[in-house]
Amino acid sequence: MNKSDLIKVAHLLKSARHVGVLTGAGISAESGIPTFRDSQTGLWANFKVEDLATREAFECNPDFVWQWHVARRIMLINTFPNPGHRVIAWLADAVDQLTLITQNVDGLHQAAGSPIVHELHGNIKRTKCFKYGHPIEQSLADNHPDSPPECPVCGSLARPDVVWFGEVLPTKVFGIANDATIHADLFFVIGTSGHVQPAAAFGLMALESGATVVVINPDPDSAIPGGMFLQGLSGVVLPQLVKHGWGIPASVFQDQVSTRKF
Ligand code: APR
Repeated sequence: MNKSDLIKVAHLLKSARHVGVLTGAGISAESGIPTFRDSQTGLWANFKVEDLATREAFECNPDFVWQWHVARRIMLINTFPNPGHRVIAWLADAVDQLTLITQNVDGLHQAAGSPIVHELHGNIKRTKCFKYGHPIEQSLADNHPDSPPECPVCGSLARPDVVWFGEVLPTKVFGIANDATIHADLFFVIGTSGHVQPAAAFGLMALESGATVVVINPDPDSAIPGGMFLQGLSGVVLPQLVKHGWGIPASVFQDQVSTRKF
């Protein structure tokens, strides 16, 4: 990672008026959660996410798609925020304005203490019904690991409250994200491969609006032309930005077991 770029970004962060942050699966990788482009394992090894996370897949085989989401929720149970999540939570009070938009459905930004998390793709800890989106008690969902229970209101099947491929994003969240790409003077794109639209376009949109865009990712292919690129793990780079911007040692963000179990 280029040290002078790191220090430059740290000073921009300290003096920023409005910081936009878009995160993807990469920010949760150091919490032990496989990213989407990691290969699937176990029973799901022969299936692509794109083949499981769709309305059509659920209508065709509700039990199988439901069980895949149950398995993902179980995988999240013993995961905790990592220093990357904790720095973003800390920044919410340290900078004038911060808008956090995540593609992740794991709830770790909330567990790290981020006060406002805009979830573009929903949250796998929440359940709703397939037909009308009626909220369904998580305890009812958790008591049915093999087959989705019926909605107590309309009788349609329960489904996870996440955005599947081909479904529209939550309008309000999309509007907030869009506003952040227009108004932020500093916009971070952290831990995302940029494979899925419209989130993949937010970095470029912010750049076009005149923001300084900073990509944080170990993969150089994720860099955005015209933006800055800090190559490395978000759990390492983000604490370094706080160290160079505020003089706070990176150790402050290490290994605090989250106050809220996931
Ligand atoms: N720190 C920062 N970035 C990391 C780290 C890390 N420790 N580990 C991996 N990455 C990067 C990878 O290099 C990759 O660019 O995180 C990115 C993960 O990319 P994806 O697996 O494609 O995840 P994401 O970009 O969030 O996917 C977007 O696609 O599957 C759909 O809806 C799903 O929200 C998801 C969307």
